[in-house]
Amino acid sequence: MSAADSASEKALWAAHLLTLFPEMFPGPLGHSLAGRGLKKGIWSLDCHNIRSFATDKHANVDAPPFGGGHGMVMRPDVMGRAIEHVIAQQPPKRNLTRLYPSPRGKLLDQKMVRELSQQEGVMIVCGRYEGLDQRVIEHYQLTEVSIGDYVLSGGEQAAMVILDTVVRLLPGVMGKQESHLEDSFESGLLEHHHYTQPRDWQGLEPPEVLLSGHHQNIAKWRHENAIEITTDRRSDLIAAYMAKKHLKKEDKD
Ligand code: ADE
Repeated sequence: MSAADSASEKALWAAHLLTLFPEMFPGPLGHSLAGRGLKKGIWSLDCHNIRSFATDKHANVDAPPFGGGHGMVMRPDVMGRAIEHVIAQQPPKRNLTRLYPSPRGKLLDQKMVRELSQQEGVMIVCGRYEGLDQRVIEHYQLTEVSIGDYVLSGGEQAAMVILDTVVRLLPGVMGKQESHLEDSFESGLLEHHHYTQPRDWQGLEPPEVLLSGHHQNIAKWRHENAIEITTDRRSDLIAAYMAKKHLKKEDKD
């Protein structure tokens, strides 16, 4: 067993990527919080080169779409072999959530991120060209995930975003476990403003209450500030927050 295999077996949370560009990884995921977690063995990252599962002499991974049209579609036979390889490699009790980054997918949000962090790991199938043959998506029950309403040139960038958001929530990755509880979206609100030294910068001072040392007043200011910012910028989030608060109040009454 190689060193990489044993790291992947021991890690709490495993990420397997199927990609035509394994050299893109770990890239940004090798730095900062995600990189530290990777080095500590809290999560593991294995990249599998899709091209190595091609069998013809040109190592073709794509073909023109049936029915005509522009672009190329990734071949189901090649993708199937790559996916089967990853499934067969897993230790008996590791069930990887199967994701396919795609602009047609369910929009990634903090709830989905939290759920993924509580599972055993992911297999992310990165598409290029016009994407995957639909039979592969259905046969392997891949969940399509979008990171936003725009089109990337491939799934790798989206996979990096998905992994970055998930691994920072794994126990031991962040210094203080509570530190993400106030993050934007965890509470349903965008985060309050932040200020630091120097106290006077270009004649501008932070809000007085933050210098008061009065923890209750500071917490109250931050909460009100978060409400104001969310109201201003995201009417969808504030509506959902108010509705949830209303429901909780009804539960109590
Ligand atoms: N692939 C191309 N565009 C994408 C997007 N917006 N989200 C996820 N994967 C993608």
